[in-house]
Amino acid sequence: MSDTPERVDPSAATMQGVNPYWRALDADDIRRGHHRGMIGAMWDDMGALQLAFMRREGLQPFHRLLDVGCGSLRGGLHFVRYLDKGRYCGIDANASLVEAGHHELALAGLDQRGARLAADVNFDVGRFGVEFDYAIAFSVVTHLFTDHIQACLKRVRHALAQNGTFYVTFFEAPDTAHLDPITHAPGEITTSYTQDPFHQSFEELRTLGERVGLRARLIGDFGHPRGQRMAAFSPL
Ligand SMILES: C[S@@+](CC[C@H](N)C(=O)[O-])C[C@H]1O[C@@H](n2cnc3c(N)ncnc32)[C@H](O)[C@@H]1O
Repeated sequence: MSDTPERVDPSAATMQGVNPYWRALDADDIRRGHHRGMIGAMWDDMGALQLAFMRREGLQPFHRLLDVGCGSLRGGLHFVRYLDKGRYCGIDANASLVEAGHHELALAGLDQRGARLAADVNFDVGRFGVEFDYAIAFSVVTHLFTDHIQACLKRVRHALAQNGTFYVTFFEAPDTAHLDPITHAPGEITTSYTQDPFHQSFEELRTLGERVGLRARLIGDFGHPRGQRMAAFSPL
């Protein structure tokens, strides 16, 4: 990203003080590929991991997939390539990252595959008018306060098919309201209960899900190179 001044993405402005995703990339940043570092790097590995995981969970090309916090399509490129035309929808708080996603689609020759991308900070996934078979939030709730996670689960619940599943990665804490920092292996990322990057116990996520009609299942370790775990939410 360029040095000064720091630009604020208008769509993501309310994330200031929550996580670093309020920063706006300009066209030059995107051309230089700065979005790949901004969303956490490990571009190829983390992208391929997402598709491999979802295929193990039953994702097939005809399914409709929602990518919540899709960023610049690190995983999205793999999904768009795999899924039938028009089956991928992505939403992200940061409009400049969504713009970078369009850039990546064009670079990969996937810009005619009917991917639908939206910039929105309020998880308004109903805007797509689609009932999704699968949804994923990869490295997203790790950057969100609990009330944002609650809003996300509620909104996704309403856009999910009755037999659909929403997969969410998170940094796992051993108990509820775990106030001490935790350093996770592998990757040595240190997380906090009160600031980004965040951790939660599975019980806390389960409770958030139950409040909005979702049953949570802990998948746990799924080979994430920085020690994140996976939870799956299905409509009750
Ligand atoms: C670590 S990046 C992961 C991006 C993508 N899932 C991937 O694997 O590359 C976290 C993403 O969450 C997005 N994000 C943060 N808060 C959000 C919100 N309230 N609504 C939607 N996206 C959000 C950020 O803009 C960023 O793109």
